[in-house]
Amino acid sequence: MKKLVVLSGAGISAESGIRTFRDMGGLWEEYDIMEVASPQGWENNPELVQNFYNERRKQLLECSPNKAHYGLVKLEKYFDVEIITQNVDDLHERAGSSKVLHLHGELRKAQSSVDPGLVYDIEGWEIKMRDTCEKGSQLRPNVVWFGEPVPAMMPAMDITRGSDIFVVAGTSLNVYPAASLLDYVPKGVPVYVIDPADLSVPFNVNAHIIKEKAGKGIEILFEKLTGEKM
Ligand code: OAD
Repeated sequence: MKKLVVLSGAGISAESGIRTFRDMGGLWEEYDIMEVASPQGWENNPELVQNFYNERRKQLLECSPNKAHYGLVKLEKYFDVEIITQNVDDLHERAGSSKVLHLHGELRKAQSSVDPGLVYDIEGWEIKMRDTCEKGSQLRPNVVWFGEPVPAMMPAMDITRGSDIFVVAGTSLNVYPAASLLDYVPKGVPVYVIDPADLSVPFNVNAHIIKEKAGKGIEILFEKLTGEKM
């Protein structure tokens, strides 16, 4: 089976009702990125950061996967599909995708604020101030903040190097190192870019643009790749 690798971002979950970051009305218009998504922000005001992610988690529990997530599951009948997602939601998993790597962590998990290796599932939606890890330190969201290392990059690079088809869906390609994965796509491998906006894709990439929202875009991709209706 050919390996189809997908790099997904906030846009793939937009039709599920989850806000993107950099579009008009995106989260970073309303919140200061350094206040809620950086180690300094956490140090200055942990309650504010905790509330921000508690709110995101609460909303996530009310959302369901959409046609794009389900379309990627259907592609598993034809391809060895591996998803590398920048999203912290669990909609790929809830749709049923079997191989999902989270580059920026997982909203429904908590981590120790002294040892990032200590990660716990969250019951419900809330991490409370004074909820602690087994070492007695405050639990924080299991989200990679700006300025923190991205440990999943190494496996993501390996997965990308092994791709026969590469798909970019719903990401502005603004955030590094995630966006640099395109540099590891083997030469000549087709790269399908699904996004309703015009993205600037590196000139050396063999890009096929599908200028659509994710649901429609994945349907078009499905038909192109399999010759069948999704
Ligand atoms: P962005 O908000 O930067 O980009 C979202 C992309 O989705 C844009 O290119 C939109 O045009 C596109 N889009 C909007 N609606 C769509 C739809 N219905 N279908 C398909 N595409 C749509 O989000 P990301 O690129 O995912 O990191 O952002 C990357 C990282 O920046 C996030 O993981 C997050 C953020 O700060 C952290 O919080 C660490």
